[in-house]
Amino acid sequence: MKISIVGSGYVGTTVAACFADLGHDVTNVDIDETVVDAINDGAAPIHEPGLDELIADHGGDRLRATTDYGAVRDTDVTFLALPTPARDDGSIDLGIIEQGARSLGEALAEKNGDHLVVVKSTVVPGTTEDQIAQLLAEASGKDIDEQLHVAMNPEFLREGSAVADFRDPDKLVFGARTEFARDRLRAVFEPLVAESSAATVETGIREAEMIKYANNAFLATKVSLVNELGNVCKEYGVDAYEVAEAVGLDDRISERFLRSGVGWGGSCFPKDVAALVAAARDADYEPTLLEAAVEVNDKQPERMLELLEEHVDPAGERIAVLGLAFKPGTDDVRNSRAIPVVEGLQEHGADVVAYDPVATENMRERFPGIEYADSAGEALDGAGGALVVTDWDEFAALDGTFDAMADSVVVDGRRIVERRDGITYEGLTW
Ligand code: UDX
Repeated sequence: MKISIVGSGYVGTTVAACFADLGHDVTNVDIDETVVDAINDGAAPIHEPGLDELIADHGGDRLRATTDYGAVRDTDVTFLALPTPARDDGSIDLGIIEQGARSLGEALAEKNGDHLVVVKSTVVPGTTEDQIAQLLAEASGKDIDEQLHVAMNPEFLREGSAVADFRDPDKLVFGARTEFARDRLRAVFEPLVAESSAATVETGIREAEMIKYANNAFLATKVSLVNELGNVCKEYGVDAYEVAEAVGLDDRISERFLRSGVGWGGSCFPKDVAALVAAARDADYEPTLLEAAVEVNDKQPERMLELLEEHVDPAGERIAVLGLAFKPGTDDVRNSRAIPVVEGLQEHGADVVAYDPVATENMRERFPGIEYADSAGEALDGAGGALVVTDWDEFAALDGTFDAMADSVVVDGRRIVERRDGITYEGLTW
């Protein structure tokens, strides 16, 4: 099948490369020439395990990129994978995807034959049918559900394992309202369904839009709940990890996403929960539980600072922050819990020295004024306290490195450092 994908960001590039690997003929459309050139040269424009190989294999061959929207006319289906960033009030900003839909519609005006447009970006219920479809119809002059069909296919890829997640998904969600759209989606994913154990969910467009938000809201709230339980555990001297391990044996709960600590970050959970809260309020519904999930998440970095202060006054003190990425295995610092931790330390007048194996340069853009160390050992050397924010494996192996601290107070936000003699160890929820 001939597939075009508008947007070569994180999702668009990964999905394009994986579709090409399934045997499809794929064209990525992006306004950024450097990204387009990279893909055509067989080089991955983003860092994701396994992606380099896929783009090296197919780039310039079954996988091509262009800045010309006209390329979509020669394809059977177009996926819209453009960003839907958050506005200050948490609601999603549709500006970029609306512009993409207009350009796509203009290009499709000159296409003969049917076409399917699939929204892959995360959008609140109603967006595909009420906004995107309307823009496509106006710009193309075609009738929706006649020559031009729309569908919604949310993405559940995790950063750091996106290629593996694509190849072995728990579920595929096809939101459609015409048989044509459903059939074409089935045809696109047929090779994947044949070789994986993915469940296929065929549903309406609004349901598909909501499934993505519900999925992320559920997982984020699960972590906030385990964090809240963990905070209570800590007050009673109970080990939250032992509790979670037992609770997770109940298969109605499952053992995954039960790691309590400094909370959730990244490009999806914070943005999607905020957008769902804003959408609910927009519909005059107050989403109390989701608001509480955000509140607990905001509280965890503050609790780390409070625990530190029980042992050291951070004012004028050299304090090490270990881990800046929002989770291990990525250099992404978007909404990383390290951001409120560093901000809190700065407010207390601490002299912050930060270390991360890969995310330093990204965090430097956010905090140009703090010191960045080249190793955990260098960050800890002479420090009066350390806050562990990301569960990088190398922090589990530090051991004697803590001896170089002036005062060995370690507040662990991720249960990654071993308790040992010679350090004053505080687990966030244990
Ligand atoms: C998430 C969803 O998992 C994915 O399906 C969606 O498409 C995009 O958002 P991602 O942001 O890559 O993926 O990271 P994920 O591994 O889900 O972790 C999210 C955050 O939750 C991280 O900050 C992580 O540290 C935190 N987390 C996760 C916990 O604090 N405890 C846990 O038990 C699990």
